[in-house]
Amino acid sequence: KESRAMKFQRQHMDPDGPSNNSNYCNQMMRRRNMTEGRCKPVNTFVHEPLVDVQAICLQGNITCKNGQPNCHKSSSSMKITDCRVTSGSKYPNCDYRTSQKKRHIIVACEGNPYVPVHFDASV
Ligand code: A3P
Repeated sequence: KESRAMKFQRQHMDPDGPSNNSNYCNQMMRRRNMTEGRCKPVNTFVHEPLVDVQAICLQGNITCKNGQPNCHKSSSSMKITDCRVTSGSKYPNCDYRTSQKKRHIIVACEGNPYVPVHFDASV
């Protein structure tokens, strides 16, 4: 079974990306299996080394959107791509808008080792 840490990597890590094109989200959301059963409405990919994203878990705790205390904010801004399903998108033809940004990111961490399991926000 896929661990929560592996699921985070599948859904949110693309260290070598992005390929510089407006189809990035359409391709990656499908390739990473987020268009099975439904189109996942919003998802962010992070274009930084995995070790740098894992190190965010060492930053001080902050409150997550769901009220849990296990979120952590990156001290530096990171290269990300936000994917958001378009209003005209109709499953199973999932259509996404691709937006590249540099932001501080907030992740939830869990376990031993204490690693990212959820992408909470970018600020
Ligand atoms: P599921 O995987 O069961 O849907 P995301 O896709 O946004 O990265 O989230 C991955 C999973 O982490 C989601 O669960 C989400 O509900 C969950 N999650 C949300 N807030 C969390 C938190 N503070 N700590 C751990 N997991 C959280």
